[in-house]
Amino acid sequence: MAPIVVTSALPYSNDRLHLGHLRSTYLPPDVFVRYLRRKGEDVIFICATDEHGTPIALRAEKEHVDPKDITDRYHPVIKEDLERMGCSFDYFSRTTDQIHYEMTQHVFNVLFEKGYIYEQEIELLRCPKCNKYLPDRYVEGTCPFCGYEGARGDSCDSCGRYLRITELKDAKCAICGSKPEPTSTKHWFFRLTAFSDLLKAWLEGNNRIPENVRRYALQWINEGLHDWDITRDMRWGVPVPVEGGEGKVVYVWFDAPIGYISSTRAYFNAKGTPEGWKRYWKGEGKIFHFIGKDIIYHHAIFWPAMLMGTGEFNVPEAIIAGEYLTLEGRKMSKSRGWFISIENYLKTFEADPMRYYLISVAPLERDADFSVEDFVKRYNDELADVLGNFIHRTLIFLERFFDSTVPEAELDENDVRVLTSIEKTVTESDSLLRDMRFRDALVSVMNLAREGNRYLNEAAPWATIKASPQRAASALYTSVQIVKALGSLLYPFLPSTSKKIWQMLRIESDLSKLPWEVACEKLPSGHRVGKSFPLFKKIPLQDVQKVKDSLLPRKDVGERVSIEEFKRARIAVGEVVSAERIKGSKDLLHLEVDLGEYGTRSCVAGIAKYYSPDELLHKRVTVLMNVQPATLFGFKSEVMILAAEGEAKVALLVPDRQVPPGSQVR
Ligand code: 2FM
Ligand code: ZN
Repeated sequence: MAPIVVTSALPYSNDRLHLGHLRSTYLPPDVFVRYLRRKGEDVIFICATDEHGTPIALRAEKEHVDPKDITDRYHPVIKEDLERMGCSFDYFSRTTDQIHYEMTQHVFNVLFEKGYIYEQEIELLRCPKCNKYLPDRYVEGTCPFCGYEGARGDSCDSCGRYLRITELKDAKCAICGSKPEPTSTKHWFFRLTAFSDLLKAWLEGNNRIPENVRRYALQWINEGLHDWDITRDMRWGVPVPVEGGEGKVVYVWFDAPIGYISSTRAYFNAKGTPEGWKRYWKGEGKIFHFIGKDIIYHHAIFWPAMLMGTGEFNVPEAIIAGEYLTLEGRKMSKSRGWFISIENYLKTFEADPMRYYLISVAPLERDADFSVEDFVKRYNDELADVLGNFIHRTLIFLERFFDSTVPEAELDENDVRVLTSIEKTVTESDSLLRDMRFRDALVSVMNLAREGNRYLNEAAPWATIKASPQRAASALYTSVQIVKALGSLLYPFLPSTSKKIWQMLRIESDLSKLPWEVACEKLPSGHRVGKSFPLFKKIPLQDVQKVKDSLLPRKDVGERVSIEEFKRARIAVGEVVSAERIKGSKDLLHLEVDLGEYGTRSCVAGIAKYYSPDELLHKRVTVLMNVQPATLFGFKSEVMILAAEGEAKVALLVPDRQVPPGSQVR
């Protein structure tokens, strides 16, 4: 039994996590390790906060605090959010831990001594006013590829390309806005090019690496790798440990993955067995990384090359990269506020319904969408109706007819067939989980609940109890065995629901430590179960809007304008004094609008599909008077008529009381 270390990508310690992170990076490995623990594997689940990098340093500078103050603020809440979602890390460390500095410097030194790290003078930008180098996000400017004006020194958020800092157009210092000057400085480079063949062989020869990861990584290798600049001119980070490196730190993407190892070390230090970590990272140990697909490059190229280069560690057994989760069909975006944070979700719901949704909605290698309506539907139809209802009915009838005691059974053929499906599910889910097919495994377990429902409906102990009490006894004996199996098999996916089922069944043992196969062991006749309580209260359909209001972010209203700016728009009430269709256009009408003291003005309005000229004549409307004039189809348009656009409908804005033409809207 090889030791296994499972990791989740280390979250940056400057923001809380949302559903997208959970889906790709934190829930799947949790399901995996919960399963492996039950299989008796020697497995540890490791994470930490990623605390370096320019976004954190820059924010600290803008807030006039120390970067560590920011990471101190976020580390505990990130950890707590994940733990409340049931993520069962063995250790959740920080990359500002002393041991991480030591480990990073060790890896740097080893690679340096082996000639995989070399020095080179390069040209970078320096702010003359702040009197310092401007790494990565310290520079803002225009993307040379797509023209986006908010691009940063390391990447463009609009087209997604990586940028070299000197490629940015109209570069500005992100702190003071000055124009930076190109200056040469000494940096250290990792000889990534030396690893092309090794990486290729590793990617091609390892069938546990999922296809999406392999494909991307091979494509990049085939396009040609470049040596990698792994140092930065700044103070926040792990100091460069070699001569000449004073005042410089290693790049955050060099130190972050080393955090996987240093967090493992911190774990074993805390346990008082400081050598324990080696078992997982060397020799027989197997490494499984769970990440989001945006960081495949770092995990499938940079990181294995670093590990290979040291010659001290194993390379990953698998890198599992979850595809994207959209929200109500739209791409989630932190900057546009379009996401659901874990924190917000947990204000309304417990962890398990979301665990269920995110694992069952689609396999990890496919994009998925979170929509409130679908969430409520699955919650009601699957968790409440299929699972909760089956368990509830079984326990209620057991209470009513057999004083909550598992009765003696005389199994008939059908009972035996149903009981055999428990064993089938145990075997099937076992192999699916081993293959990391989490969704399929959950579906397999839920199918057992479906089968239980079908069986209970057909066996109908409430109908047979009088005429054939033995039949009713066997039916409830069989059903309660399925309940028990579900309690056990749902554990990796829905840990607190499992615990509740265990409680209802009055089983004392600690589920997290029981072998997977325990689901096959029968609750003996004579065992007294506890009271049933609802596992999932159905959400009434009329409450869907309330759920939406509580979960969904409000749409961003866009850039704010001041009252002064708004006042520049001169809006007034006018009366339509003539209206006609414009020949040759389906959409346009030509109107004359009386604006009182501003005179009668000509207007071309795109409302022909929604209003006839007759409807408009003598109508009081609102118009923007000082819009830039234009000429359309030979008609002058001096003012713009205001209308609201609904779905497939347009409504003119009209004053709700009579006011004379020319009255200003303020
Ligand atoms: O992309 C991110 O959120 C990074 N903080 C992930 C780091 S994973 C690992 F390399 F540490
Ligand atoms: Zn500056």
